[in-house]
Amino acid sequence: MTGMKVLVVGGAGYIGSHMVYDLLRANHEVIVADNLSTGRRSDVHPDAAFVQLDIRDRAALDKLFATHPGIDLVMHFAAKLIVPESVQHPLTYYSNNVDGVRVLVESMLAAGVNTLVFSSTAAVYGEPTLTRPLREDDPLAPINPYGATKRAAEELIAAAGAAHGLNYAILRYFNAAGADSSGDLGLNKPHLTHLIPLATRAALGMGPALTVYGTDWPTPDGTCIRDYIHVSDLTAAHLLAAEHLMDAGGSLTLNLGTNTGSSVLQVIDAVGTYSPCPYVTGPRRAGDPAQLVADSTRARSVLGWEPVRSLDDIVRSDFYYRKYHSA
Ligand code: UFG
Repeated sequence: MTGMKVLVVGGAGYIGSHMVYDLLRANHEVIVADNLSTGRRSDVHPDAAFVQLDIRDRAALDKLFATHPGIDLVMHFAAKLIVPESVQHPLTYYSNNVDGVRVLVESMLAAGVNTLVFSSTAAVYGEPTLTRPLREDDPLAPINPYGATKRAAEELIAAAGAAHGLNYAILRYFNAAGADSSGDLGLNKPHLTHLIPLATRAALGMGPALTVYGTDWPTPDGTCIRDYIHVSDLTAAHLLAAEHLMDAGGSLTLNLGTNTGSSVLQVIDAVGTYSPCPYVTGPRRAGDPAQLVADSTRARSVLGWEPVRSLDDIVRSDFYYRKYHSA
């Protein structure tokens, strides 16, 4: 499907900016709205229209829909997502991640736009006791305000679907990582906390040695296992979900991961293919589950989505983005 007119809220952030590039590559029209609290204007593709606004600002959203008539759907990436920050500032997280979604949905429905693709997270599952890959109907038990706000937003969206006919795709990402093939975009924030950028920075001598948070976890090598999914595989799933909704395929909630886990030491080895990653071992980090892997069978069967990029692709793209492009 080509020629959709898509509003991307949070389109200046990490995943949102990648989405904008891939929407434009697929010949869709894109309007980006972002408050630039963490996103970067320079990461917004020049072919996208840009409006600086906060999604809690109803008047600004209403004006955007009036100025850009004919928007087919909204993709939401405008969440705050740093777990420790959410513990320190929960009300900010509820305001942005829940109230922001409420105002956005109200404004959409008032403007007659009733299709939403929403970024959610594996954090809604909390600290699972299950050791098998997680399915969408497994218990939701977030263990921090970040996960709780995303779960609340999911419930809000589902309720608006039942009451007001909102068509939605809730996409629960596992560990998003990697960089666009152009080399122009990647995960670039002043205070990085994620494993892969910290590991590639250490390997490039751009940052300190990586600290491995715990080697006594109940996993084969004692380090935590995560399901790393390339950001471009995520954007591909968004495009398929958008087409599914526009074809009246019905609302859905999907895990997006690879069904495969990698340990912290396996990530360090993967980075080592490009340059040795110096590391030290430290204590466990509070709130980390031992293992978080997606069962993405539903996304495969409903959307025909198949992640095609490996851990090596993820690490390589992040390594070269950081080496040649990141400021
Ligand atoms: N890790 C280290 N050293 C570091 C950084 C991370 O050992 O310096 C370990 C962590 O302990 C964890 C793994 O690497 O075991 C991955 O950690 P990340 O911080 O990269 O990612 P998380 O799994 O903690 O969290 C990410 C997102 C969340 C989301 C979650 C869902 O940041 O927003 O995935 O799976 F909720």
